[in-house]
Order: sequence, then structure tokens, then C-alpha cells
Amino acid sequence: MTEYLKKIDLRGRTAFVTGGLGLIGFEVSRALCEAGARTVVCDIVPVNAALKKLKPLSSLGDIRYEKFDITDLHSVENRLKALAKKHGGIHIFVNNAYPRTKDWGAHLPEVKLASWRKNIEMHLNSYAWLSRAACLLMSGKGGNLINFGSIYGVMGPDFTVYEGTTLDNPPAYAAIKGGIINFSRYLASYFGPRGVRVNNICPGGVFDKQNQKFVANYSKKVPMKRMARPDEIASAVLFLASDMSSYVTGQTLMVDGGWSIV
Ligand SMILES: NC(=O)c1ccc[n+]([C@@H]2O[C@H](COP(=O)([O-])OP(=O)(O)OC[C@H]3O[C@@H](n4cnc5c(N)ncnc54)[C@H](O)[C@@H]3O)[C@@H](O)[C@H]2O)c1
Repeated sequence: MTEYLKKIDLRGRTAFVTGGLGLIGFEVSRALCEAGARTVVCDIVPVNAALKKLKPLSSLGDIRYEKFDITDLHSVENRLKALAKKHGGIHIFVNNAYPRTKDWGAHLPEVKLASWRKNIEMHLNSYAWLSRAACLLMSGKGGNLINFGSIYGVMGPDFTVYEGTTLDNPPAYAAIKGGIINFSRYLASYFGPRGVRVNNICPGGVFDKQNQKFVANYSKKVPMKRMARPDEIASAVLFLASDMSSYVTGQTLMVDGGWSIV
């Protein structure tokens, strides 16, 4: 293996991926597993259904599943400690889960305070508290945290892409993703001397058979004229999770086909 290929070799490392059964998380899990990491998928899906979904990945490497609710803030720190012990440590932690309330997507004037608070609690607070817990476990041993932001964590929405559709951009998303991105900078600064790198990945819209009008509106605005594929996001996670990015910390990697530069 050449020196550069050795850098993406994750054998001997354990990676955790929250929301690892979702659209992006599944591909992230596949990428980390293919690169040799023992990959622990954490999601809220019941065990049997999860194992069925993960079956195709089991021939690629060491893939495992833990039912893990990131919103259970009183228990996540101890649970993660126990899981690290069970699965051979923690070297890579990817905060990718996407918890949201049923009314997520409500237009700004209709958003209820209780719902706003719940989404901040479920998403921002869970990411922050788990980030803290994962970094503390990796501190002094070397490790790597990747937080999922979004283009909407660094930019305001262009509402014209929702014209002619029933879709909308949830206002709490801006607060949540913006908060996650800047907290990652805090963590990168705090844990830099302690051997832990912390970075954000900000995908643009990923194609998931959305409303045709929305896909057309969105694609028109992107310099690359299309939405992303999940594997394109996962490749960027692999870069951040591996020694390919050994001198990169506190950064926000935009994987958006150029959305954020125009
Ligand atoms: N899809 C996009 O276009 C896009 C764009 C930018 C950013 N993102 C971000 O990427 C990440 C993944 O998004 P996605 O589109 O793959 O979402 P998704 O809805 O397809 O998958 C999310 C996964 O998280 C799991 N999950 C939900 N609540 C959970 C909880 N409490 N504990 C543990 N797991 C839980 C779900 O079961 C699901 O498997 C999110 O942070 C999202 O904000 C997505």
C-alpha cells in the first residue's frame, strides 16, 4: 500500500455513526467500514430491522449495531463510555442523526414555541452533549469528531427554491446547524492540544426523490446543476475521519456542488 493509501486505512480504529441507518448515515457507515474501521452504527431503529438493513455491509468489514437514542441526554455520556469499552475504544465519532418533531417544516409564522424548544433540545443539545462526551473519551489518546452541519448552518435559505412546492425551510434548522458549527470550533480549539480533531461537514441538498419542482429549482441554483448523492457526502467524511486530513481541525467542509460560493 502506498503512503497515501495508508492514510485512509482505518484498520484498528473504532468509528461510531449516529443515525447510521439514514440516507447519508448508511453511506457514511459503508465508507468507514470499507476503509477498515470497526463501525458501530447507532440509531433508534429496532435491532432486528437494523441488522437486516446492515446485512449488505457485513461482507465489507466489521459492522455492528447499537440501538442508541441521542436525545436521551441524561444517559448518553455513560452509554457512550460503556459502548467504547465494548467495541474497542472510540477513535472516530460522527454526529449525523436527524431527530425532528412531526411539525418540522412548519412555516415560520406557524412554528410553536414548544416545538422550537423541542427541536433545539433534540438536535442541537444532543449533538453538543455527545460531542463533548466523545471528545472527553478521545482526549489524550487521539481521535476525530465530525459534526454534520448543513449549507443552512452557514447561509440563509433562498426561499425561491420552495416556490410551487409544499416544502419549506425549517427556521430552527438555521439556529441548530449554526450552533453546531460554532461549537465544533470551540471543541477544536479546546481539544487540539489533547490530540482530538473536530470538523464540520456541510452537505448541500441530497437527492431523495423530492418533489420534481423543488429538485428543478434547487438544481438550477447550484453551479454543478444537480443535487448531491449520499456517497459524495460519505467520501468527504472519510477524508475528515482519516489521516488524509491530519492537519485539518475546526473547519467546515462544504460539500454542496458550489451552492455556497454563488
Ligand atoms: N439530506 C440532506 O439533504 C441533508 C443536507 C444537509 C445536511 N443534512 C444533515 O445530514 C444528517 C443526516 O441527514 P439525512 O438526510 O441522512 O437524515 P435521515 O432522516 O435520512 O436519517 C436520519 C437518521 O437518524 C436517525 N435518528 C433520528 N432520531 C434519532 C435519535 N434520537 N437517535 C439516534 N438516531 C436518530 C433516524 O432513524 C435515521 O436513520 C443530518 O444532520 C442532516 O441535518 C442532510
